[in-house]
Amino acid sequence: MRTPLVIGNWKMNGTQAMARELAQAVRDGLKRPRGVEVVVCPPFTALPVAAEVLKGAAVALGAQNCHWEEQGAFTGEVSPAMLAELGCRWVLLGHSERRHVFRETDEEINRKAAAVMRHGMRPVLCVGETEEERRQGLTFTVVEGQLRAGLAGLSPEDVARCVLAYEPVWAIGTGVNATPGQAAEVHGYLRGLVSEVGSKELAQSIRILYGGSVKPDNAQALTQEPDIDGVLVGGASLQAPGFITIAKKSAARSGPSKE
Ligand code: PGA
Repeated sequence: MRTPLVIGNWKMNGTQAMARELAQAVRDGLKRPRGVEVVVCPPFTALPVAAEVLKGAAVALGAQNCHWEEQGAFTGEVSPAMLAELGCRWVLLGHSERRHVFRETDEEINRKAAAVMRHGMRPVLCVGETEEERRQGLTFTVVEGQLRAGLAGLSPEDVARCVLAYEPVWAIGTGVNATPGQAAEVHGYLRGLVSEVGSKELAQSIRILYGGSVKPDNAQALTQEPDIDGVLVGGASLQAPGFITIAKKSAARSGPSKE
């Protein structure tokens, strides 16, 4: 059974005051979430305040990025040890904004994944095609390349600790989400790949999230797809009531479990 996972990516939003208020509201709205696991990823500077608010809460803390080295002359970077020290349990890696705006490469993302796990945290490896790549029929080729490179050299135990997120670039922040059918097609493909690079069991247990214009009114239709194991939420995670609704609508419903 794959417990649905809902992650809020606050991106570069959140002064101390705003982060405190948002984290408190999410915490209070999800005191005992049933059938869903919830994570919020504030910007680096808001991690301490969010960690304080979420101490002992059902909502876990994640970061949006990290460097792969332990320490040293890497001006402007943050190491996995620094994040682990603050109580982060998750780190988003390879988000499309990191890949496209900051030119992160697959190789760097792969090094980050290994580093995150060395510090006991879990990576959320994001993959996704641009609009142009989809138009050219390259969706599967692109996500396959990103997945294989991102997981390269990791042991099956490490892959089992990763979460994947399919985030089509054309759906991020645009208000145009992939349809449940479009997303499910890619999720099925990714699961098949995990079976190939890992094992059938691994493919059945790994969670694959969808991200890109997830809102309270489309979360349920998306997460009802058997291969969609939760959502990665950007813009809509900045409003606590909407994010809480998304988490509740993504929860596993009674009935046949996702196996
Ligand atoms: P969005 O962003 O929900 O604002 O489209 C998703 C993401 O970037 O993870």
